Amino acid sequence: MAAFPQPPLTPPLNPVAAALEPSKIVEVWQMGFEIEDLIALYVGEGDEPTPAFISEAASRALREGHTYYTPKHGLPALRRALTAYLARHFGAAVGEERVTVTSSGMNAIMLTLQAVLTAGANLVAPTPVWPNVLSAARIAGGEVRTVPMTVLPEGGVALDLERLFAACDDKTAAIFLVSPSNPTGWVISEAEQQAVLDFCRRRGIWLIADEVYHRFVFDPARFPSGVAPSFLQLAAPEDPLVVVNSFSKAWCMTGWRQGWLVHPAALGAVLGNLIEYNTSGGQSFLQHGCLAALTEGEPFVEALVARCGQAAELVFQGLAALPRVSLARPAGSFYCFFRVEGVDDSLAFAKRILTETGVGLAPGSAFGPGGEGHLRLCFAGSPQRLGEALERLRPVLS
Ligand SMILES: Cc1ncc(COP(=O)(O)O)c(C=O)c1O
Repeated sequence: MAAFPQPPLTPPLNPVAAALEPSKIVEVWQMGFEIEDLIALYVGEGDEPTPAFISEAASRALREGHTYYTPKHGLPALRRALTAYLARHFGAAVGEERVTVTSSGMNAIMLTLQAVLTAGANLVAPTPVWPNVLSAARIAGGEVRTVPMTVLPEGGVALDLERLFAACDDKTAAIFLVSPSNPTGWVISEAEQQAVLDFCRRRGIWLIADEVYHRFVFDPARFPSGVAPSFLQLAAPEDPLVVVNSFSKAWCMTGWRQGWLVHPAALGAVLGNLIEYNTSGGQSFLQHGCLAALTEGEPFVEALVARCGQAAELVFQGLAALPRVSLARPAGSFYCFFRVEGVDDSLAFAKRILTETGVGLAPGSAFGPGGEGHLRLCFAGSPQRLGEALERLRPVLS
């Protein structure tokens, strides 16, 4: 995009806000506006609109006049439906008072970080990770400590628990874990979950678990219940655990900006105040759409996840056949994160791929330490477009 001349700002500016860097994913994404016949695989969404039964529920609520201010923690019916959803999928008994509806998963992260971080406190996060988390921590006043995951020679990553725990000190407020992972597709094991939860309990620090991709797991032998393991299955209600979630991914609702948090009951009042001073609550008619997603959405979610599982295999096989590419079969989320031999500037390479092939990929360097040399491909879209993308990518990755 053409840069417009900008006169310097003279009134005071928050130095943390002023120092924020634009997302490298967005940098490539913006270039894509100029590309004809683009196959956009750089952002975390597919090409299907929200299913009609969800949109219709929201439209109906709008027509019926659900247009007023809402309770800070969300409509009671939606909070109840979320507790039923968590019981159904994880066998977790979560009381309504522990559920807070938020204006997106991103907002859920920001509210949590605003609640737990203070100046001088740090947030410890394994990387590669969705970069918005790290910027949100800085905006909330914290310091960010990244802990690169171990890159395995055969492709894929592993969590080094000793390294993670060694990065925590008496200034650590929270560990932030994303599983299933954006960008790597890694899924935490139950033994690792138990170790991290025990560590956070012992040290009296928060565990913030981002489970936005909990529905996207592809190996029925490893995940027989069809969901990724949730910390809610291990934790007691009063544990220092906050689980971040979203309607965006499983119900194709990225543009709706609806999410939720599960937290200890005692954190509810703090979150309520932060919601008051951030958004003053969510949108009533959209929350009626979310209610329909939870109560009627199972067939849709199951079909979407099955299609993503096939796409994961298609993309994995297509990329693994290329000699310069190394990657692991993604266990979860809807991304392939692959290394390309000889690439040491993934941002420049992603831009080159976009202009030469019309396929939009996210540069690995956007995801923090351990990401450089990789590219991220989102396989949530149609299999036919993914097949075409693989055809176009073959020459430039060979
Ligand atoms: C790991 C992770 N967490 C949270 C979010 C936020 O989701 P949303 O703000 O669309 O609800 C995303 C979006 O891509 C994500 O990848």
